[in-house]
Amino acid sequence: MNKAVGTIDISAASRAFLERARRMPIGGTWVEALDGQTLDVTDPATGERFARVPAGDAGDIDRAVAAARTAFESGDWPRMRPVDRERLLLRLADLVEGHADELAELEALDNGKPVTVARHVDLALVVDFLRYMAGWATKIDGTTQELSMPLVREREFFGFTRREAVGVVGAIIPWNFPLLMVAWKVAPALATGCTVVLKPAEETPLTALRFAELLADAGYPAGVLNVVTGHGHTAGAALASHPGVDKIAFTGSTEIGKRVGKAALDNMSRVSLELGGKSPVIVLDDADPAVAAAGAAQAIFFNQGQICCAGSRLYVHKRIFEPVVAHLSGIASAMTLGPGLDPATQMGPLVSRTQRDRVSGYIEAGLAQGARAASGGEPVAGPGYFVRPTVFTDARDDMSIVREEIFGPVVVAMPYDDIDEVARRANDSPYGLAASVWSNDLSRVHRLIPRLRAGTVWVNCHNLLDSAMPFGGFKQSGFGREMGRAVIDLYTESKSVIMAL
Ligand code: NAI
Ligand code: MG
Repeated sequence: MNKAVGTIDISAASRAFLERARRMPIGGTWVEALDGQTLDVTDPATGERFARVPAGDAGDIDRAVAAARTAFESGDWPRMRPVDRERLLLRLADLVEGHADELAELEALDNGKPVTVARHVDLALVVDFLRYMAGWATKIDGTTQELSMPLVREREFFGFTRREAVGVVGAIIPWNFPLLMVAWKVAPALATGCTVVLKPAEETPLTALRFAELLADAGYPAGVLNVVTGHGHTAGAALASHPGVDKIAFTGSTEIGKRVGKAALDNMSRVSLELGGKSPVIVLDDADPAVAAAGAAQAIFFNQGQICCAGSRLYVHKRIFEPVVAHLSGIASAMTLGPGLDPATQMGPLVSRTQRDRVSGYIEAGLAQGARAASGGEPVAGPGYFVRPTVFTDARDDMSIVREEIFGPVVVAMPYDDIDEVARRANDSPYGLAASVWSNDLSRVHRLIPRLRAGTVWVNCHNLLDSAMPFGGFKQSGFGREMGRAVIDLYTESKSVIMAL
């Protein structure tokens, strides 16, 4: 039977979980925060609190790091064969898939995103990535070398390299794809034999806790995954600067990423940072305006625009600028806003009041500086943290709506004259996470790709991720590449072995 949260019904399974969410897993035991503090979990569609989770702090991070260290150095985990790590990850993937409806419901409730998107995008990607990483557990290899050893010519030597688990991983993740970000950090750690202390975003702690339950059900040893829910400036900062952590994996804002990176460097913890973006969508003059506009809409409006690789700067050749903007504004105006749990919703609320205010502030600044809203632009009456999909035109390249990451459903459409100009303007950003190009002119597309300073370039698509493709940023979008073969390097150390024969 379904019971209401505000005006929305949720399943009995989710209802039961919300009671259990008052505790977090540390060393195989479900505990409250040491000082008993809690965090409110609110529904972004109404602003109402519907659950509480522990607000862990530095002391909780200490005991979680200690548990992760113990699990890494003693017990069953360090001795587990690669094939058994593979089987455990596959079992976990099956459990997550079996509970996908429940996890999608929690995700929609916690983050605000449409439940159909949570089910068919987030959960689909999570399960796929767990299975993809399971395959890597048995394929981590080194090299062998015939050595010349110039200093010792009278003896023979043999060399080989091993890749070994980096150790205790501290993972700090954002709220935009809460469970997918758990998977991006935890799956490679489990495939390589690391242990993890995970700090979910304070806005969206629920699916990380449910995932940890499923991980225990799958049969993982205690202490392999520890979760500390809590605030960034307390629990997050304590994890980033903890000397017992061997590697920090962070996704979030560039501002906090720099702070986390500096803290990690002080301990010489390895660090990977997946940060902000201001990704260009470049429409060449041969593109079909309706196709390009539909692509541009998906590039910016998917997930309410709360995506690091969102296509927030739309450069359209001047010959087709008007029709592309007309189609795009039409799509934006027709979108149905509503709570994530309503199956009719096409665009949910933003994750929090703070994020809604931040995005609204950018819209007001754009209007005040003289940009024109071809659609959206006006505030939505409460309750809930809704922002209308907004398409700006008549912007100058130096406006904050063109330069800064907005992280909401706001795109700025700008005309250009020629390829050299658009390549220069596309790269004129501190960020370099992604870009997309819309054209069927293969040679022009191929010539443009190497000129774009971005970690991912999509052609005739945007925001599409594949477990096999490395993902990460140039410039201030961070460093390191997650997913694909590349992620193995982030979770392992290379050891060189030199044997005198
Ligand atoms: P944030 O970077 O503050 O939060 C991301 C994670 O870092 C959360 O788990 C948070 O608790 C943690 N954190 C915060 N302060 C910390 C600290 N001092 N030490 C260690 N961990 C800390 O991002 P926030 O405040 O949620 O959003 C602000 C802006 O950041 C957004 O408007 C957006 O522009 C950008 N952002 C980018 C994301 C991406 O995927 N690249 C994801 C989320 C936000
Ligand atoms: Mg913050």
